Amino acid sequence: MNTKTLLLGQTFEARGNPLTHPWQDVTFVNSSGGVLIQGTTITEVGDAGVLRKNHPDAEVQDYGQHLICPGFVDAHVHYPQTAIIASWGKQLIDWLNTYTFPEEMRLSDPDYARTIAERYLDLALDHGTTTMCSYATIHPASVDAFFEQAALRNMRTVAGKTCMDRNAPDGLRDTPHSAYDDSKALLRKWHGKGRAHYAITPRFSPTSTPEQLSALGALWAEHPDCLMQTHISEQLPEIAWVQELYPAARDYLDTYESHGLIGARAVFGHAIHLEPREIDRIAETGAALIHCPTSNSFIGSGLMDLAGLAARAIPLGLATDTGGGSSFSMLRTMAAAYEIAQLRGTALHPAQLLWLATAGSAHSLHLENRIGTLAPGREADIAVLDLAATPAIAQRTDEAETIWEALFPTIMMGDDRAIADVWIAGSKRGPVSSG
Ligand code: GUN
Ligand code: ZN
Repeated sequence: MNTKTLLLGQTFEARGNPLTHPWQDVTFVNSSGGVLIQGTTITEVGDAGVLRKNHPDAEVQDYGQHLICPGFVDAHVHYPQTAIIASWGKQLIDWLNTYTFPEEMRLSDPDYARTIAERYLDLALDHGTTTMCSYATIHPASVDAFFEQAALRNMRTVAGKTCMDRNAPDGLRDTPHSAYDDSKALLRKWHGKGRAHYAITPRFSPTSTPEQLSALGALWAEHPDCLMQTHISEQLPEIAWVQELYPAARDYLDTYESHGLIGARAVFGHAIHLEPREIDRIAETGAALIHCPTSNSFIGSGLMDLAGLAARAIPLGLATDTGGGSSFSMLRTMAAAYEIAQLRGTALHPAQLLWLATAGSAHSLHLENRIGTLAPGREADIAVLDLAATPAIAQRTDEAETIWEALFPTIMMGDDRAIADVWIAGSKRGPVSSG
């Protein structure tokens, strides 16, 4: 019953974390590699010649010099903001009020929510992103729309209803009770259904009352296998506002911590201006921090200390944060991570960047046993990169002496044109059949 497919090309393998170990010891490219897929799963990764010989019955797809890597994992995105990406001239709080909240209001219409979910998921796949952890809006139907469309594309995804009960406009607020009830109903409906995972999602402390954070902390305690995603320490005026709204809190993290919203399955976006106590506590609990570099420069938030946080062994993921982020492309996002690290005095290696966009993000979402690496037993979610997709990149790749030199121009200058193919759960991406 299982079809056998053999993908041949250059293959990227990660056997450990290249931010905490020398990248040479844990990341590898086989210039003549192969990935055997049986049904929905990767069953072998190895040398092309050996795999061909051992599996003469497999259907072969030869990608030549293309790089076969895990599908990208975008660990923090707002699919409802697809239509307002690249909106001009505002920093965080003004940007939310001017562009984001009015657009999120439009998703009260389930038809519009479906249109945006379809548009977003197709754009993500065009860019080689096979899994994402998304915020929806406060509207339960926006969660349904996302998971329904993801299911039609057979994608492994994480999402949750964004909860806000203050400092948001009329029509875009819930209550502590309704946030609890709606999140619980959605979680029961979607968590573990097919490839869907639910994340309990308070937007951020300024838009939740302490009562709402408590209610969501209680819900998480009842469903500890869910993720909990939110924002932390993105911009200095935001942090000052949190101090005003929560005068008894020791710091930003404490507004979550004191309401039961910290733990190994917490996923915090941005984390730019953390205090030492916050870093200690995050390291202690095993919570993940998600780097959103295009967003952090686009909205003017600051330079996350990726290397410093990695040195504390904190799980780290990479994300577009669309539409605060300025791209749907995880390649563009890796480029921004490189540039921000350079501004802080660290040159991230291409192996580290590609790891962050795949295994690192998968690990931060506790999906590392399913996706994010090319390894036997992993689901066959794969992106195939053309390392010479544009004339500007090709003239650079032509001169490259190593695979890393050949890959780096695609990381820095690549976009959806570099995505030669996408495989989802063992099938090459085709048209969506209905919906
Ligand atoms: N903080 C709270 N909400 C948001 C959002 O939608 N985008 C970003 N970048 N930061 C936020
Ligand atoms: Zn965000």
